[in-house]
Amino acid sequence: MDMHPFQGATGLLSRIGDTPLVRIERAVDGMLPEGVELWGKLEGLNPGGSVKDRAALAMVLDAERRGKLHPGGTLLDASSGNTGISLAMIAAARGYRLVLCLPANANGERKALLGIYGAQVVLTDPLAGSDGAILEARALAAKHPDWVYLDQYSNPANWRAHYGSTGPEIWAQTQGRVTHFVAALGTSGTFVGTTRYFRDHHPHVVASEVQPDSPFHGLEGLKHMPSALVPAIYEANLADHHLEADTERAYGMARALAAKDGLHVGPSAAAAVTACVDLAATLDRAVIVTILCDGGGRYLSDHHLWGAA
Ligand SMILES: Cc1ncc(COP(=O)(O)O)c(C=O)c1O
Repeated sequence: MDMHPFQGATGLLSRIGDTPLVRIERAVDGMLPEGVELWGKLEGLNPGGSVKDRAALAMVLDAERRGKLHPGGTLLDASSGNTGISLAMIAAARGYRLVLCLPANANGERKALLGIYGAQVVLTDPLAGSDGAILEARALAAKHPDWVYLDQYSNPANWRAHYGSTGPEIWAQTQGRVTHFVAALGTSGTFVGTTRYFRDHHPHVVASEVQPDSPFHGLEGLKHMPSALVPAIYEANLADHHLEADTERAYGMARALAAKDGLHVGPSAAAAVTACVDLAATLDRAVIVTILCDGGGRYLSDHHLWGAA
């Protein structure tokens, strides 16, 4: 049997994964056919506050197992936010230094958290977005060969985290009832890893990926693949369906999820839920599971998202 991707995690880090799976009901009232159930994995309840705890932990443990990381060593990566926060938490807990390339327009909550965990942040051109941060991380990796460049966009440990944790958790938590899996794409690690788990173990599960419907979107953490640096771990032909999400509709869903189901989640989670509603319209009977990537607390200062209070 394959080793669990989080094997070797101790203390706080041993609490990553095994997030609750909750039914989404009132926010989608009247939007789902009668025989369709919608469930979401509450990834905001990971200790670092997002789904990215899984990939970050798996990448660090993998580097340790390969003998690339030594006490006091330096980790390097680029992130639009959540991976950076997860890595900063993990680096603190395991005694590493983290250098993180981050677009300068990342919101204040994120920058503050990174500093609190002790990460060293390199701010990059906001107009170049997450791709600008990636190019800066590549340049720093070339200059500092002794740093461990985790490269979440190319690192197989990213998708393997989900193959060995998110996928089996969804299967167990639905008692094998899941029929459809839906996830939005950033690095694509969540979608690719979980979907490969289903392909190998329960191939009847239908998998749908979600992308923003335009290059100019407000869905933090997500990539519009046709206009972005495509991650090496992304597999374009893996999905059964390609779904799109509109920013304003996702923001409306984020407000509804909080106000009607008590689920305060971020915009990418809400985008995935709108895509699930679109998919559900084509189905009679289904148990759809999606990923609620992070909590809404990380976006509180984004007044456009939550509407006037
Ligand atoms: C808020 C948010 N949603 C979704 C994603 C996408 O996850 P993945 O990188 O596994 O595709 C990310 C990751 O970067 C994220 O930060």
